[in-house]
Amino acid sequence: MSYDYQLLMDKAKEAAKKSYSPFSEFAVGASVVTASGKIYSGCNIENSSFGMTICAERCAIFKAVSEGDKEILAVAIYSPNEDDCYPCGACRQVMYEFQGQDEIEIITEDKGKLNIKKLSDFLPYGFKIHG
Ligand code: THU
Repeated sequence: MSYDYQLLMDKAKEAAKKSYSPFSEFAVGASVVTASGKIYSGCNIENSSFGMTICAERCAIFKAVSEGDKEILAVAIYSPNEDDCYPCGACRQVMYEFQGQDEIEIITEDKGKLNIKKLSDFLPYGFKIHG
């Protein structure tokens, strides 16, 4: 399955505009493409009870999985506050759970230039129960 890195980043940027982040003022948007070819987007959503916050990446992944789309091929992440906005540890582990045969690609942007990495660059030894 081929997909368009720039389109995914554009969707992540669009999603970042929906960020609800009044506490950190750190907006994040993410988009994922699944094996079905569909794209799902999400943003970070904070809460007055800070620990209830959800990251943009998990928001997008959970939207995909809740629609029955469980195989993630690539994730684009964007923040207007940070070049090359990398996923936090929790989101890396959630990506690992929904990785298929092919390694998930992680797309970030530094001053307009797209950078592509693999999930294993961020999480070399993920945890999985092979039931
Ligand atoms: N955040 C994300 O959305 N994704 C990450 O991978 C790291 C952090 C959000 C959570 C919180 O709303 C804000 O960024 C500051 O930590």
